[in-house]
Amino acid sequence: MSSNTTSADVQWKGYAVTDTEKWDELKVIDFEPKKFEDYDIDIKIEYCGVCGSDVHTVTGGWEGVMLPVIPGHEITGRVVRVGPKVTEFKVGDRAGVGAQVCSCFKCVPCNTDNENYCLKMVSTYNAKYPNGDIAQGGYSTAIRAHERFVFPIPNELNLEQASPMLCAGLTVYSPLVRNGAGPGKRVGIVGIGGLGHFAIQFAKALGAEVIAFSHSPEKKDDAMKLGADEFVVTGEGFAKDMQGKVDLIICTADVSEGIPLADLLSTLSVNGRCIMVAIPDNSLPPLHSLQLIGNGAFLGGSHIGSKKEALAMLQLAAEKGVESYIEMLPMKDAGKALKGVKDNSVRYRYVLKVDIDI
Ligand SMILES: NC(=O)c1ccc[n+]([C@@H]2O[C@H](COP(=O)([O-])OP(=O)(O)OC[C@H]3O[C@@H](n4cnc5c(N)ncnc54)[C@H](OP(=O)(O)O)[C@@H]3O)[C@@H](O)[C@H]2O)c1
Ligand SMILES: [Zn+2]
Ligand SMILES: [Zn+2]
Repeated sequence: MSSNTTSADVQWKGYAVTDTEKWDELKVIDFEPKKFEDYDIDIKIEYCGVCGSDVHTVTGGWEGVMLPVIPGHEITGRVVRVGPKVTEFKVGDRAGVGAQVCSCFKCVPCNTDNENYCLKMVSTYNAKYPNGDIAQGGYSTAIRAHERFVFPIPNELNLEQASPMLCAGLTVYSPLVRNGAGPGKRVGIVGIGGLGHFAIQFAKALGAEVIAFSHSPEKKDDAMKLGADEFVVTGEGFAKDMQGKVDLIICTADVSEGIPLADLLSTLSVNGRCIMVAIPDNSLPPLHSLQLIGNGAFLGGSHIGSKKEALAMLQLAAEKGVESYIEMLPMKDAGKALKGVKDNSVRYRYVLKVDIDI
C-alpha cells in the first residue's frame, strides 16, 4: 500500500453530534480520516462502546468541543489496510483502538511507556493532528491510527466484550497496577458504572480485597457478583465506621460537588491513595489540608493507560475471565445509549454495533 496517499483517499461514515443542545440526535455524516502514513492501520469497525467521556464531550460539559463530532473510543473490528512500516498487524486481524490515536513518539513519557501522558497526545475524537487533520471516533464505519495505538484482541475475547475494555478497562487497570493493587491490599472502588464494574473485577483479578462504594443501593447484588467483598452505600455518615480501612481508592463517580471526597479520604489507611479517574464537568468539592493530613493521604489522578498496560490488561481479562456487562444496541440508537449513560440507567456499558456500510 502506498504511503503517499492523500487524506482524501477514502470517505467514511459516522454518527455525529452537530449541536450540543441536541446531543442525543446524531446524524450520519461523511468524513475523511487523517492522511494515510507508513505506520497507519485502517480498521473496519464492528463495535464501539459508549463511555461517560462521550457524554461530557457531546453535551458540551467539557469545554472546547469541535462540531461536528463523531464520538466513540472503545473500538473493535478487523484490519483492512496496513501501512508499509506496520509490523504488528496484517489485513484480517482482530484489532481495537482506545481513547488515544497518536503522540509525539519523542518525549520522555513516550519513551517510557507513558505515552498516555504525552503533552502532544491526540485523542481519538474531538481532536486535531499536528497537520490539522481531524480525528473522528468510533460511532462510525472505520478508524485509522498509528500502530502504537492499535491493540491486538486476544482470541479468548469476543470483539464486543473487548470493546469497553479499551477505554473503561484500561483506565482503571492502569492506576490499580501503578498504585500497588494486589494481595494484602484493600481497594475501594467508588462508582459502579462502566469504569467501576471493570475496576472491581480487575482489582479482584490482581488479588486485592475489594470494597465497592456506590450511591445506588440497588447495585449491591451486581457489585458482589462482580467480585466485591463488601458493598458500602455512600449515604450520610458512611465513612464513620470505615476509618483507615482502605489502602487505595479508585474514584470513578461522575459527579462534581456531590462527591463525598473528604469522607472518602478519611477511609484511607496511613499514606493511602485516592486516585481520581472520573472527570466530572465541574470542580471537585473544596478540600481543607486537614482532610489530607490526618492519615497522610495522597490525592492523585490517572489518564487512560499505555499500550503496554493495555496488552497486559487484555491478557489478564482473558486469563481471569473478566467480563464486560454489556447492553448491545444498533449504532443508530447511539443517542439512546448516550442518554442511558447520562441518567445512570445503563448496566454497565452500551456497545453499539455498526449498522451502516463503509
Ligand atoms: N481518566 C480517564 O482517562 C478517563 C477515561 C474514561 C472515562 N473517564 C471519566 O470517568 C468517569 C466515569 O465514566 P464511566 O464511563 O464509568 O461513566 P458511568 O458508566 O456513567 O459511571 C459513573 C458512575 O458514577 C456514579 N454516579 C453517577 N451520578 C452520580 C451522582 N449523582 N452521585 C454520585 N455518584 C454518581 C454512578 O455510580 P453509582 O451508581 O455506583 O454511585 C455511575 O455508575 C467520567 O467522568 C468519564 O469522563 C476518565
Ligand atoms: Zn472513555
Ligand atoms: Zn510524547
